[in-house]
Amino acid sequence: MFSFFQKKYNLKDYLEDFIDIHNHILPGIDDGAPTVEDSLKLIHYFKEIGITQFIATPHVMNDYYPNTPQTIKAALEDLQKRLDKEGEGNIKIKAAAEYMMDQAFMELLGKERLLTLKDNLVLVEMSYFQAPINLHEILFQLQTQQYKPVLAHPERYAFFHSKSLNNYTDLKNRGCLFQLNALSLVGHYGKNMQEIAFSLLKEGMIDFLGTDTHQTRHLEKLSGAQLSKKQLDLVLPVIQRTRDTFSF
Ligand SMILES: [Fe+2]
Repeated sequence: MFSFFQKKYNLKDYLEDFIDIHNHILPGIDDGAPTVEDSLKLIHYFKEIGITQFIATPHVMNDYYPNTPQTIKAALEDLQKRLDKEGEGNIKIKAAAEYMMDQAFMELLGKERLLTLKDNLVLVEMSYFQAPINLHEILFQLQTQQYKPVLAHPERYAFFHSKSLNNYTDLKNRGCLFQLNALSLVGHYGKNMQEIAFSLLKEGMIDFLGTDTHQTRHLEKLSGAQLSKKQLDLVLPVIQRTRDTFSF
């Protein structure tokens, strides 16, 4: 019999020992945690959810957040020092970056080694308004240099949305891996993003999950996120793959 009271599952119950590979918890270098205090607040909240391992991914965005390996390393050291002082030995943080695919990124590609999530995996994003005109060239260049692009939150690029998912298939064929934002599962970025998120999951196109946490309200929402059994079954293999691939 059809039930109006379909059982719901708390997403956080499945995030125990998860490693978050996309977040803005490093202090003072992008639009995430402004200070070390804020970083700690976020980390304590993550701990309540059961997440204690992080790959921090501050923006590298020429116009707004011109981060370099040096600024990122310094922010990580500040945070690590504070964690040590607080006796938070069980928190493990590595740093990488979330690179905006713009002209400056193309130039950077020719100049220095990129910060990777692991091995050759590079987290990249694009503007929410339009894809870079030379997107294909950027993806090609990345792979010529032996990198594997991991596209952050593919579901959030409305200009790629279509029923056939053909734009996404094209990116996959061009060697992109996809990282879904956990909050897209519960419609945090809008109904369309949520629908595409589940379409991509159903097609087996999502490789990894990340939280993209910038502030505590993201974690409040994550903490309360509930899914149906069907939705949960789609996302559990992605959670497991993320854990298996990145845990350290
Ligand atoms: Fe991000």
